[in-house]
Amino acid sequence: MADIDTVRERVAGAKRLAVLTGAGMSAESGVPTFRGPGGLWRNHRAEDLATPEAFSRDPKLVWEWYDMRRTKVAQAAPNAGHHALVALENRLPGFSLITQNVDGLHRLAGSTDPVEMHGNIWKVRCTACNGITEDRRVPIPIPPSCNVCGALLRPHIVWFGESLDADVLERAFAAFEYCDVALIVGTSGVVQPAASLAGLARRVGAFVAEINPEPTPATEAVDVALLGKAGEILPQLVPG
Ligand code: OAD
Repeated sequence: MADIDTVRERVAGAKRLAVLTGAGMSAESGVPTFRGPGGLWRNHRAEDLATPEAFSRDPKLVWEWYDMRRTKVAQAAPNAGHHALVALENRLPGFSLITQNVDGLHRLAGSTDPVEMHGNIWKVRCTACNGITEDRRVPIPIPPSCNVCGALLRPHIVWFGESLDADVLERAFAAFEYCDVALIVGTSGVVQPAASLAGLARRVGAFVAEINPEPTPATEAVDVALLGKAGEILPQLVPG
């Protein structure tokens, strides 16, 4: 049987399907990935832009970078891969979607409850009163200030060196600990803790498939690696 047929069959028979997505999921929507050709970390150092230290040093620079990304995301629409995941959610009762992406495209496609491990680019958080609000202004005034207390706002994103929200972490790990089939889509698998979810699924005996045009550190350890784009492969996995 071809690998794609094996994965389709496993997905159709899954009692609990856990899906992890990364930046590659949105590549076909025109949102740049972080690593690889054209990736954001090719031209920028993460330490200069995506750490609390970078923000305290130069909030204006960090906001300009986020404003550039918000502008790109505002122009992006969900692709066939995002829509296929909505179709899977509608067909399979035990479906969980965990994403490292902050672009909100899963929800825009119609996924009802994606667990956003790294936050959301359309949310801002006050550095003084900690209030979290949605803010869709593009461009955003730089630097933006809190409507309630006037202090500086920051993106509601998990930066390097920061902890993930405890509830989000628990939901992500529970989805992979109790799944019988897992799909790892469009992630280079180098950022923790998301990078450990594929291994967790393997340890609990789940069938794990990876969807990525390139091999990753996880490729050797998965049951099947489907080398290809999310927007082309995922629609083929939706049971008829
Ligand atoms: P990366 O940019 O590290 O990896 C993107 C992956 O997507 C690569 O393995 C590509 O081969 C793959 N890819 C590219 N095009 C694809 C396509 N059309 N279909 C499927 N896969 C494709 O992105 P992440 O692994 O998501 O963190 O990065 C993890 C975290 O590192 C991000 O959430 C971000 C970053 O620093 C924060 O911002 C906190």
